[in-house]
Amino acid sequence: MTNYSTINVKPLSGNIGAEIDGVNLKKITKEQFKEIKIVFGKYGVIFFRNQNLSPEEEIIFAELWGEININRFFTNLEGYPKIALVSKEPDQKKNIGGAWHTDHTYDLEPAMGSILFAHQVPKKGGDTLFSSMYAAYETLSDGLKDTLKNMYGRHSSRHVFGTSRAERNDDTVGRIINSDKAKQDAIHPVVITHPQTGKKALFVNPTFTLGFDGWSDEESKPLLNYLYSHATKPEFTCRFKWEEGSIAFWDNRSTWHLAVNDYHGQRRLMHRITINGTRLK
Ligand code: SIN
Repeated sequence: MTNYSTINVKPLSGNIGAEIDGVNLKKITKEQFKEIKIVFGKYGVIFFRNQNLSPEEEIIFAELWGEININRFFTNLEGYPKIALVSKEPDQKKNIGGAWHTDHTYDLEPAMGSILFAHQVPKKGGDTLFSSMYAAYETLSDGLKDTLKNMYGRHSSRHVFGTSRAERNDDTVGRIINSDKAKQDAIHPVVITHPQTGKKALFVNPTFTLGFDGWSDEESKPLLNYLYSHATKPEFTCRFKWEEGSIAFWDNRSTWHLAVNDYHGQRRLMHRITINGTRLK
């Protein structure tokens, strides 16, 4: 199962996701980090269990990967602006991230990845699904690949975090903040070349993409809807079952994720740290 010399790697499905064990993230060695980076590039999302890091240790681990992005729309852990809270209380109905998306595509330089640390998880439910945008791209026909190759997508945060959400006054009030800052839109290629792996990946998503550049939203919808249903075929996905102390780290350029909202009446509390990325080509 493993060709690695300092860690154990267990793939979670045919196309995406691997659980890594044999490493204590508080004392990660240079050799382990090198191998973990390879696994991250190959599987798109990696998982660790039983880590139980303090907020300081979470930040140290995150900073191994790059500069931390201070999230402007999520509340932060008190005293730790670098750690965003992804939470749902027993009396709340809406969760955060409950539709397929990848983070920060409304930014000109979308995040390279996000790390989610489980602090309190429901007794049942609350899993996270991931889908591989490498697999989604690779399995398109040559004709559609050719059509998409010179197209750009329009992405926005306005409809998700902006004033219209604030006006909806749903139970994410207090968890989602700064609606006045949801102003930035960004244009990215529909098919990107991943800056590290050099592989091509589909780079639109159902939450933040409004349409194709130069096309109206209405014109864009049928093709986007086709791409969305294609990209979530079960064979491109994996599902992660959380325990306290579990960690997921996903590559934002090559995966989507969805937090399953099936645990009403129970608390789920995660810390999220997002790592800055670069402009995508
Ligand atoms: C997110 O979308 O960042 C949250 C995912 C999760 O809570 O499982």
